[in-house]
Amino acid sequence: DTINGAVTFDHVSFQYPDTQAAVLHDISFETKPGATVAIMGATGAGKTSLVGLIPRLYEQNTGVVKIDGKDITTLNTEYLRDAIGYVPQEIILFTGTIQDNIAWGKEDATLDEIIEAAKLAQIHDTIISFPMGYDTMLGQKGVNLSGGQKQRLTIARALVRKPGILLLDDSTSALDIRTEATLLQALRDVACTTFLITQKISSTLHADLILLLEDGSLLAQGSHEELLENCVLYQRIYES
Ligand code: CTP
Ligand code: MG
Repeated sequence: DTINGAVTFDHVSFQYPDTQAAVLHDISFETKPGATVAIMGATGAGKTSLVGLIPRLYEQNTGVVKIDGKDITTLNTEYLRDAIGYVPQEIILFTGTIQDNIAWGKEDATLDEIIEAAKLAQIHDTIISFPMGYDTMLGQKGVNLSGGQKQRLTIARALVRKPGILLLDDSTSALDIRTEATLLQALRDVACTTFLITQKISSTLHADLILLLEDGSLLAQGSHEELLENCVLYQRIYES
């Protein structure tokens, strides 16, 4: 039931059913299990679309996506959904306790599992600082969380399933550099392959692989050092 989290894109192109132009063109890359993959690129470059192909939210038109060497179209959706944690760009929290918000979608999660996920997401200390701890109410009658706290809560929600792959769509934008680095290291320690869509160079510094998208094409891929040496656009982002 567990996966190692090696992900391969092999000449993948994709176009939404209701649009004329392809949004991803001939994307190829591969990641090792447990790797940190940063995805950068301007708004509309195709970052959200790319990660959406991994849990098969959409189906590519050409090419193959593989997890641990297996074509994902041959895998059962239930299995994929369990193996992949997805934190969408739009945060959704509901009126209810922190515990219920983290367990959303996995209602059989035990409190221990919820706490473990919250620790990994670097939000446990904040939660226990509230008088009601995990029973703290969110929403109109409850506490108001900061943007970064909301982001970490939704990351905890994804981690409660102990996924082998985690997709973070701009989910660390409100975190300070140190908290983000601690989070990424914690995910590395549990060998969770992490795709991190980001606009911040601070998040790409320690990534094993950076994918730089431009207009749906993979303009460059490599480590921070490699892109700094070979990619003019990356240099420009770095210097800005
Ligand atoms: N798109 C589309 N239909 C959708 C979603 C997106 O046609 N349901 C198009 C967008 O108009 C855009 C392209 O697909 O031209 C890529 O969109 P997306 O992957 O969402 O881009 P991101 O890089 O994620 O942009 P952002 O940074 O703004 O989130
Ligand atoms: Mg997006």
